[in-house]
Amino acid sequence: MSLPKKTRVAILISGRGSNMVSVIEAAKAPDYPAEIALVLSNRPDAGGLARAAEAGIPARAIDHTLFASRESFDAALDAALREAGIELVCLAGFMRIFSAGFVEAWAGRMVNIHPSLLPLFRGTHTHEQALQAGVRLHGCTVHYVVPELDAGPIIAQAAVPVLTGDDPDSLADRVIVQEHKLYPKALALVASGQAPLKNGRVDFAAAQGAKGALHSL
Ligand code: GAR
Repeated sequence: MSLPKKTRVAILISGRGSNMVSVIEAAKAPDYPAEIALVLSNRPDAGGLARAAEAGIPARAIDHTLFASRESFDAALDAALREAGIELVCLAGFMRIFSAGFVEAWAGRMVNIHPSLLPLFRGTHTHEQALQAGVRLHGCTVHYVVPELDAGPIIAQAAVPVLTGDDPDSLADRVIVQEHKLYPKALALVASGQAPLKNGRVDFAAAQGAKGALHSL
């Protein structure tokens, strides 16, 4: 029996690409519902570009500094995605805000991972924000991208305890381990059509177990 056709995914990065690597690794499984067909970076010096090329994935930079406007950069990105037949866009440490038109063009077909338990701590320096707020649980969120920053419908989350003596780096180290586990799973759910965006909410195909709980003590 042949496997269903895999969803063609592009991963967009700006930096080292450790989440990208976790998704590329997961996508090697024959039954993974997505294939990573393209990696794009807005920064030519992003370390993740070489890591993607090593994995045999077409990878290139579209340098945002060479474009006169946000819209013209987004148009170049959009053209590259369409040319490669991309069906789903996966933001993995892509540190650039899109124009509303680009987000609307990819609505329901673009996901992001954010290093906090949204809706808490949007934007940058999320680990500092969590320590400042004194929360005892922190974590990461995979969500659909909407025009408002870090505000899209939530697909999946993972939580970690905040420990006495944590600093932003130790907390980031604990969260990124969970990012690497969560993102491949969440992407598989989306790529296989089990968590589509409908009327501004995620329409989950299957109920999840209710037993799991993470306590900070
Ligand atoms: C990750 O922690 C990701 O959640 C975060 O950037 C890091 C990228 O690391 N993304 C954001 O802050 C997006 N607003 P990586 O390049 O090693 O995957």
